[in-house]
Amino acid sequence: MTRSDGAATLSDVLERTARILREAGIEDAAAEARWLVCEATGVRPIDLLVRADVAIDGSEAERIAAFAARRANSEPLSRILGKREFYGRDFQLSPATLDPRADTETLVDLALQVAQEPARKGRPLRLLDVGTGTGAILVSLLAELPAATGLGIDVSADAVATAKTNALRHGVAARATFECRDLRAGLAGRYDLIVSNPPYIRTADIPGLAAEVRQFDPHLALDGGADGLVFYRLLANFLGNLEPGGWMLLEVGAGQADDVAGILLQSRPDGIVRMAEDLGGHLRVVAIGSQGTVVG
Ligand SMILES: C[S@@+](CC[C@H](N)C(=O)[O-])C[C@H]1O[C@@H](n2cnc3c(N)ncnc32)[C@H](O)[C@@H]1O
Repeated sequence: MTRSDGAATLSDVLERTARILREAGIEDAAAEARWLVCEATGVRPIDLLVRADVAIDGSEAERIAAFAARRANSEPLSRILGKREFYGRDFQLSPATLDPRADTETLVDLALQVAQEPARKGRPLRLLDVGTGTGAILVSLLAELPAATGLGIDVSADAVATAKTNALRHGVAARATFECRDLRAGLAGRYDLIVSNPPYIRTADIPGLAAEVRQFDPHLALDGGADGLVFYRLLANFLGNLEPGGWMLLEVGAGQADDVAGILLQSRPDGIVRMAEDLGGHLRVVAIGSQGTVVG
């Protein structure tokens, strides 16, 4: 309802924003409009109803219009808000980081399961996250394993800076180290859990990805080489960095689980392989355990 003084109200802009998003084909237009309007005005979602007829000032209206235009142009809501919830915590995003996916929570679940196994108890675990991005995986694991320490590496300095911010935000910075490194340069040290969600899209498939992914997730986070498996072959070299009884857990793309298990078993023929499905029923994680033998 427009006010008697002619000013647009919160409910006017909510309605207008939802219409723009609906016309752009956004499925959950009403809910996304609420998020954008709250972000632009500072109004809490819980207060939207009671403040429905509050006047919107010019700069707020401009901010909302700009957000709506970005969303209508396929930019994901999380990119506009600058954050994404992962494993129950908000992670700051940057243009250099992948927008963490809910599917990746499957990897965190399995990592926590193997971390609880009897062989793992007795001293704090050491974790390594290769291609850490926002730090979503490592920060979540450190938050759930209060004695563990971890190293996250990424070839993007910008991603490393974002991961450090997220570690601070979630109170694990004292147990987390982040370094800007190319995994091709190899690695020293031994770890109980090595986790990674590496780039795994075949190069030729990238132009066919949805605009939300292709235009807004960094290419560096997507491109897994000609067959999508380049990073798994490199990660297999890190099996030598596992502590006795340690586990490597890798996220995989659609249809890649058997190939990735094959790559890992080639380097570690006596390894125990476990796989886990995401909520959509797709094999999403391949893990290999080192059976307690010293690797070298
Ligand atoms: C698919 S993203 C995963 C990000 C984050 N772990 C997550 O699950 O949301 C892959 C990450 O690998 C990083 N990366 C790509 N090539 C790399 C390389 N050669 N060495 C180290 N990291 C690399 C990218 O910058 C990106 O952050």
